[in-house]
Amino acid sequence: MTRTNLSMPAGPNASGLQAYRAQLLYFRDTPKAEDEACEWIRDGLLVVRDGRIEQCGEYDRLIKELPPGTAVKDWRGRLITPGFIDTHIHYPQTDMIASPAPGLLPWLETYTFPTERRFENPEYAHDVARFFLDELLRCGTTTALVYCTVHPGSAQAFFEESHARNLRMVAGKVMMDRNCPEYLRDTAESGARDSEDLIGRWHGTGRQMYALTPRFAPTSTPEQLGLCGELAKRYQDVFIQSHVSENRDEVKWVMSLFPGYRSYLDIYDQYGLLRPRSVYGHCVWLDDDDRRRMRDAGAVAAHCPTSNQFLGSGLFDFAAAKSFGMPVALATDVGGGSSFSMLLTMNEAHKVARLSGHYLTARRMFWQATQGAAKHLGLTGRIGTLEPGAEADFIVLDPKATPLLERRSALADSLEELLFALAMLGDDRAIAATYAAGREVHRREEG
Ligand code: GUN
Ligand code: ZN
Repeated sequence: MTRTNLSMPAGPNASGLQAYRAQLLYFRDTPKAEDEACEWIRDGLLVVRDGRIEQCGEYDRLIKELPPGTAVKDWRGRLITPGFIDTHIHYPQTDMIASPAPGLLPWLETYTFPTERRFENPEYAHDVARFFLDELLRCGTTTALVYCTVHPGSAQAFFEESHARNLRMVAGKVMMDRNCPEYLRDTAESGARDSEDLIGRWHGTGRQMYALTPRFAPTSTPEQLGLCGELAKRYQDVFIQSHVSENRDEVKWVMSLFPGYRSYLDIYDQYGLLRPRSVYGHCVWLDDDDRRRMRDAGAVAAHCPTSNQFLGSGLFDFAAAKSFGMPVALATDVGGGSSFSMLLTMNEAHKVARLSGHYLTARRMFWQATQGAAKHLGLTGRIGTLEPGAEADFIVLDPKATPLLERRSALADSLEELLFALAMLGDDRAIAATYAAGREVHRREEG
């Protein structure tokens, strides 16, 4: 039998079959706690055919079943996991990441809105979308829930770039018809019409999916939220994404704009925007009734630790989220967030949990960034796993990526310690390669 090794090109053979030898880590879809659902195969083989995972198991067993001539890529010493899922990120804010401001509202006015104006130019939008996707893949993120700008062309450009690479992405045109510069406004009617048009063009086109994207309650009139709610009802499998309870000043402002509602979250609820496949960024200042309501509605909290710290928004309360069973996933929130890396995001999430008296294991964070996110988004079995039948979106993590990581991970004597070292010391350098639908879409340069 011929096998390829690292030094040989390893494209799929004529049957579309390709295999990868490495440590394998994923979480099965079971109601059990993620620790028990965790599958760790120390010498594993991942078999991929035509963009899907065909087999995942012990190398010794599966190698005997491979047809002669199948290429086997040798990633021994590395760890293959499902690609990361970032549940809240703004592609138009790529060029303004790391812009200083004393909090969310001045940051939006000073940097965000002027930057987003540039997306009236589709050429610029394409250029940023390409860079943005490269950066996600370099960091091991294969699926993201992406905000575009108010311009329908910004979403069109994003979807075209993502579709051309056959990535599984969720995105939407921002809806915003008040409390923002004139140059970034749609109207309740045009926002709904353009969103519906984009749903028709892109939701389910290849691997693209649409998210209705009212930016946040203060920048939408009640009429706009009402039309958005109608679309949410008409298109049940489309996503909804927005921001909620990120910052104290924002919460005060919202409550003055929408008097009579029980809470900020309640506004979205009353407009029919809390349901499965709705994803709310931040959720820092929710109360327990809100958390209960998120759980009952099947809505997901996208926890954005680097952004919450960068903008001084507050500490997400993991313990409260857990006690009310509120679904939580991780997110970068670039450009409020300061990194595209989900490993770095885990690092910060762990510290935020510690500060609120909670302890997040590395296993739980890897679950949240893969299988857990897929489950909360209604994408179980399609992404976030290495189980047969899933789309072959996976990454190769390198525990020797830096001298320090190599030294620390050599002493790791459990899976938890190894994952913890990757989360605390890793970033884009720890991603040796990224695969989307079975195709290599990123390979780290060897230094
Ligand atoms: N709230 C409304 N818009 C935004 C945004 O672009 N970033 C963050 N972090 N919060 C928001
Ligand atoms: Zn955001």
